[in-house]
Amino acid sequence: MWKGRFSQATADLLQQYGESISYDWRLYPHDVAGSIAHARAQVNAGILSKSEFSQIENGLREIEKEISEGKFEFSTELEDIHMNIESALTERIGTTGGKLHTARSRNDQVATDTRLYCRSAIDNLLNLLSDFQAALLDQADKHAGTIFPGYTHLQRGQPVTVGHHLLAYVEMLVRDKERLVDTRKRVNVCPLGSGALAGSTINLDREAIAQELGFDGVTTNSMDAISDRDYLAELLFNFALCGAHLSRLSEDLILWSSEEFGFVTLSDAHTTGSSLMPQKKNPDICEITRGKSGRLYGNLVSILTALKGLPLTYNRDLQEDKEPLFDSIDTLTIALKVNTEMVTAMEINTEACQIASSDPMLLATDLADWLVKQGVPFRSAHELVGKAVAEAVATRTPLDQLDLTKLDPAFTSDASSVFSLTKALAARTNPGAPSVANVRAQIARWRQS
Ligand code: ARG
Repeated sequence: MWKGRFSQATADLLQQYGESISYDWRLYPHDVAGSIAHARAQVNAGILSKSEFSQIENGLREIEKEISEGKFEFSTELEDIHMNIESALTERIGTTGGKLHTARSRNDQVATDTRLYCRSAIDNLLNLLSDFQAALLDQADKHAGTIFPGYTHLQRGQPVTVGHHLLAYVEMLVRDKERLVDTRKRVNVCPLGSGALAGSTINLDREAIAQELGFDGVTTNSMDAISDRDYLAELLFNFALCGAHLSRLSEDLILWSSEEFGFVTLSDAHTTGSSLMPQKKNPDICEITRGKSGRLYGNLVSILTALKGLPLTYNRDLQEDKEPLFDSIDTLTIALKVNTEMVTAMEINTEACQIASSDPMLLATDLADWLVKQGVPFRSAHELVGKAVAEAVATRTPLDQLDLTKLDPAFTSDASSVFSLTKALAARTNPGAPSVANVRAQIARWRQS
């Protein structure tokens, strides 16, 4: 398609090195839609007849159908999806096919296709994120009142509920969704008409093309439009951060499903055994998800590195944008689906939660708060309770069994009223705190959003 000035065939190795059809074939429905909108604009500009348009449209639809049915034979010689489709069109409809590329370059074509692909991927991922949130909400609902220890530094800290803990992930996921919705605005702008880099002497109605393709508007600088991949960097960052959230949940579930914690039982369908140790039941989904966050980060670094140092405008380096993009979308898509299934099927072990939260040390802070309410400055209260804890540890006495009144006159016999988990949790009513009432209200709010 560009061989006019060449007298030698392309080297086999260059063909192998430079082809993108092995992965960019996925752009085909968008390439077809973009070409049809482009051809329609040519009709309106008076450079294509209506019957030529019909030939082009029908030919493209046929090709699209063949690709979707796996009947189309892609050629590496034709390098990418754009040339594969255009060449097949000309084979089918003859010279009219050669008119399609008027006022267009593969540079604005690939930018358009990629944006359309991203837009549909974003919409799909938004749905998957909502499904995953719904699975977490269902579990949070069941366990809004299941008290267990909240940890800092992986040391028991204060009592919370399983519901509150799971809602923390619902919050992360809503931020992931917001970021995708925001990036979508910058994705959904049409670069078609920017040509190779400097528009065209043949002016097609860019607004009409954009509208037909469902874009919100057109790009406003041809040089930026064909070399801009910022939206990919943004998307890959969004995916990487979402991967971090999934990885953190994975780590929690790996800990919880260990014999040492025992807070959760993952279903047999979502765990694997060991080929050697018959007793093993391994949380593979969690580990794989934790591992896959690494490739999501790697893909972000790939695109950022590819962009750095590129002079305007299109450079072939930009072809390296697609594999990381596709890989991150595929990775996140299956990760969200499998994690949704796993979270839906998992069982929280309320007994283990109850045993772990019966540790009175979890209420040491509440004891200090009690002293504060009696007028003791917090720093002194902290110190007094610290001494009580040291005594409990040294004498191997549970904190709630110590005679606190012997330790300091600030403690009255009323102090022991602190050692009620339900009361401790019910007192945490400030916005964002884990009282059961708060957690239930949050669940209701999420369900309505
Ligand atoms: N396969 C190319 C890519 O993905 C399409 C654009 C090629 N443009 C060019 N001038 N060689 O970037």
